[in-house]
Parts: sequence; C-alpha cells; structure tokens
Amino acid sequence: MKRNKVTVVGAGNVGATAAMRVAEKELADVVLLDVLEGVPAGKALDLMEAAPVEKHDCKILGCTNDYSQAKDSDIVIITAGIPRKPGMSRDDLLSTNMGIMQKVVKEIASVAPDSILIIVSNPLDAMCHVAYDVSGFPKQRVLGMAGVLDSARYRAFIAMELDVSVENVHAFVLGGHGDTMVPISRYSTVAGIPIPELIPPDRIKILEDRTRTGGAEIVNLLKTGSAYYAPASAAVEMAETILKDKKKILPCAALLQGEYGIHDLFIGVPVKLGSEGIEKVIEIRLNEEEKKALHSSANAVKGLVDDIKRLRG
Ligand code: NAI
Ligand code: 2OP
Repeated sequence: MKRNKVTVVGAGNVGATAAMRVAEKELADVVLLDVLEGVPAGKALDLMEAAPVEKHDCKILGCTNDYSQAKDSDIVIITAGIPRKPGMSRDDLLSTNMGIMQKVVKEIASVAPDSILIIVSNPLDAMCHVAYDVSGFPKQRVLGMAGVLDSARYRAFIAMELDVSVENVHAFVLGGHGDTMVPISRYSTVAGIPIPELIPPDRIKILEDRTRTGGAEIVNLLKTGSAYYAPASAAVEMAETILKDKKKILPCAALLQGEYGIHDLFIGVPVKLGSEGIEKVIEIRLNEEEKKALHSSANAVKGLVDDIKRLRG
C-alpha cells in the first residue's frame, strides 16, 4: 500500500513537532521544507534516527527550498513565518508572514495542486485568505488551524478546574484566532453535561479569559517564541481526520459565504472534515450575545484582511 504524503513547510518549532507527530502516528511520509540551510535536513535525519525506537517506518525527508520534493502531497501544513515575542500581538506578524505565505503557496500550488492546505502561520485567519487567493484552490481545500488549539486549551482548563479526565471534556471556541475568539460555554460539556451546570459563572469567565489569552501566557513564559506542542498536536489532528476520512467535527478556520451571516471571511466555525477537506460547515444555533461576539470577532478579522489588500496595493 502506498503511504500518504504530508509536506510541512517551516521546520521550526511547530513544523518539526508536527512532522514528528505525523510520523510517530504512522499517518504519512513527511517532507520538511524550510529556507534555512541544513536545519530541515538535520531535524529530519534526527527524526529518522528516532524511528527504530519509536517503532514506525515513515520516511522523513528534510530539504531547503526544494519544492519538487513536495510533489503530489496529500496535505501541506504551512507553519513558515515568524512567531511572536513578548509584547507582540499575532497581528504584528502580518506583513512579514504575508510575503512568506505568498511565496510558499505559489510553489506548493504548482507541485501539489490537489493537496489540502492546513494553514498555521499567524495572523491565522488573514493568512488563510492569502493562501486561498494565491493557491486558487477550492474553499474546501484551504483551512486554518486555530479552533482545535483554542478549544484544546479550554478543554485542558475545564479538566483542571473539575479534576476530571480531559477525555470527558468537549469544548467549543469559535471566531478568529485572536483576543476576540468566542468560547461557547453552553456547548462545552463534561461527559455530556454542559459546563454551566458544573462550574459557577465567575469561574467559567476566568477559564474563558485564560483561553483567549492562552497563546500570550505561553509567549510570556517562553520569551523567545510561541507555543508549539499543542499547536502541532492540533494541526496533526486535522491532518489525521482528513487522511483517515473520519468526518470528525472540528473547529477550523473556513471561508464563510453566508453561513452565520458572515460573507467572504475565513473564521473559526465547526466543520465536518473528511478526505475532501471541509465537507460541511456546521451552523449551530447561537444566542444574541454569542452572535454579537462572533460578529465582532469577524470584524477584527476583516480589519486584517483589509490591511492585506492595502499592503498588496
Ligand atoms: P519558528 O520560528 O520556530 O519556525 C518558523 C520557521 O519558518 C523557521 O524555521 C523559518 O526559517 C521558516 N521560514 C521562514 N520563511 C520561510 C519560507 N519562505 N519558506 C519556508 N520556511 C520559512 O516558529 P513557530 O513557533 O514554528 O511558529 C510558526 C508560525 O506559526 C508563526 O507564525 C506562529 O505565530 C504560528 N503559530 C500559529 C498557531 C495557530 O494556532 N494558528 C499556533 C502556534 C504558532
Ligand atoms: C498560539 O495561540 C501563537 O497563535 C499561537 O499559541
């Protein structure tokens, strides 16, 4: 049986960790691409040398700027770009990462025109727009990783609060991957029980605020970059769902064209993921307060998309 192929662009913290997880879960052979000389090849070789101990037979190839190696990839996870440092917002990365995203996606679209793109680079929702425009791919095949990470953080905080297994916790976070993201407590459950039945409102607010600032909390601790273990896990959960055609419902940044009353914007919503990419956007019923919060988050994303248009001239 031919193994699947996943290319990870950007062999930095998120990219290399994602490559490791893809191989260790035996999901696909991996190509790790970067602009740096030696680094992707070194990390790939190191991961290959771990394979006998980790007991997998996936091939991991690292290369510098050689996009021919990404030919016919099933999935391309794009993590290329700069991460934030303390005091920076995700939006401060816009112009640098936009230029990087344009170059990367142009190359990928020519060698892997049937691939599904999972965008990770920040500012996430805006980078999805760049990838969608440059690739010319249908909207089902361009998606952004943010909601799986943000809801994993919310799930972790709920599990810590109640001292229960993370496996019992499901949580929803919608909207853009920024300070305006929208955790939805009514749809967040522990063993099927909505959390407002289990946690008092003032504590839920604390957990939600911590989720919104979860990325900054880690940046402030690391000081030299941003989170990467949980982001890599989240991107790989999306890749696994697609490669195994699992039809899982996951919160992902998707291009909305009327759903939730939002037009032509990538924003985090629950989607059904399968071998075709985004197979359906799931529209859950929101109350007035939640709708208002989602639309205000969409407005923040729109501001960045307008900035992209201005930067492109
Ligand atoms: P990193 O600095 O460790 O790695 C980035 C890599 O991209 C570097 O190795 C760099 O050489 C490479 N790169 C730069 N320009 C390139 C190009 N033109 N082609 C190929 N590779 C190129 O950063 P890290 O921590 O891996 O984060 C990567 C990006 O992902 C950042 O923009 C970060 O903000 C974002 N991020 C997004 C998350 C999300 O939830 N969507 C979560 C975590 C990170
Ligand atoms: C995070 O949320 C930096 O977007 C990244 O950790």
